Amino acid sequence: MIDAAELSISELREIDLLDPNTFVDYDLTSLWRSLRHQSPIFRHPHGFWVLTRYADVVAAYKDPRFGSDGGNVLSTLMAGGDSAAGAMLAVTDGPRHRRLRTALVDALRPRTMNALAEPLRARTGELVRAMTSGRPFDFATEIAERLPMGTICDLMGIPAGDRADLLEWNKQALSSDIAGTTEADAQLARGEILLYLSDLVQERRERAGTDVVTELVAHRPEDGEPLSDEEIVYNCYSLLIGGDESSRMSAVCGVLAFCERPEAWRRVRDGEVGVDSTVEEILRWTTPAMHVGRRARAEAEVGGHRIAEGDIVTLWNSSADRDETVFPSPETFDPARRPNRHLAFGYGPHFCVGAQLGRLELRILLEALRESVTEMTLAGKPRRIYSNFLYGYSTLPVVFT
Ligand code: HEM
Repeated sequence: MIDAAELSISELREIDLLDPNTFVDYDLTSLWRSLRHQSPIFRHPHGFWVLTRYADVVAAYKDPRFGSDGGNVLSTLMAGGDSAAGAMLAVTDGPRHRRLRTALVDALRPRTMNALAEPLRARTGELVRAMTSGRPFDFATEIAERLPMGTICDLMGIPAGDRADLLEWNKQALSSDIAGTTEADAQLARGEILLYLSDLVQERRERAGTDVVTELVAHRPEDGEPLSDEEIVYNCYSLLIGGDESSRMSAVCGVLAFCERPEAWRRVRDGEVGVDSTVEEILRWTTPAMHVGRRARAEAEVGGHRIAEGDIVTLWNSSADRDETVFPSPETFDPARRPNRHLAFGYGPHFCVGAQLGRLELRILLEALRESVTEMTLAGKPRRIYSNFLYGYSTLPVVFT
């Protein structure tokens, strides 16, 4: 079914998915729908494959012929690979990936999560209550920015005085609202984070704490080697990067969705709709990690197309999560939606290790908002971040009453 609002194949070929501007300028709903309907296994003019249907994206996530060790986002794959391959969870496959994943899953076990919940609840409640005076404020910087980073820093035992620098580097490393920020700026910021973490690992080797870094330093697998310093640094980096931005963007997009739909907020606020299904719908609606990337290790046939060994394949979660064959009325934000098997956290062997924490943060935010906020309204134009990987907004002016 092709509707009049869809783009033609030649128009689709004009769209540059490498360019962050595309994601700010375009109506993405129409772009993804056009691709799903007309060319679900699309060969982008820059030579990579674009998968947009839910079923194809899930199949590719599960397919061991599509590896992550060449990089798991389009920009690094196009640049020739990720320097952390084989050491950082997200860009490592096979037995090495299982070894790192066991260490991280162990370090992030439920007991650790429970210990994080109380300080997070207190911090969230305080921040939300401070903003209910009816004056306009920026939800993105004054609330959302302070939550996930605070939690991930608690998790890693990072001192309060160092957190502002880390947040700034993190923003530069992944997302930016400043068009024209170069890859060199991003690399510089990544370097700063890695240096900081390297010092932190040394400190924990000398003096154990009660945090995840200490757990990774002390990890002794039954079979196989303990983690090296390099592996710990890269995986702490992974926690920082993975733990901050995506959670932050979900919170911002969730509040924006409610500002634009007062009736949806009323239903959640009055308890007509549960918090758990609301969390899942915010995740589906936002899908902060718009794509993941893979490289074909072997020739593969997908949907009648021959994908050659070495080809880059992109899996567009943001399109799969709006696939009308899986989600009825996908363009409706429905906090009561069930089932809701979205792909916001990915799927398969690399499924997000922080999913439990991401969900907890959103749940605690919603509970705090339900307690204190009767109405939320937009007080200005939100500004989109500048990225072809991460979806969200860097500013969200609102009024809470
Ligand atoms: C993996 C999204 C929160 C750490 C992933 C992947 C996605 C994702 C899509 C799969 C990447 C791939 O297949 O290549 C999200 C979203 C979050 C979130 C939407 C919040 C709403 C977190 C948090 C942490 C975290 C809080 C840290 C505590 C990681 C790590 C991986 C990962 C380390 C790599 C897992 C592996 O390769 O085995 N995340 N994430 N994420 N995420 Fe998250």
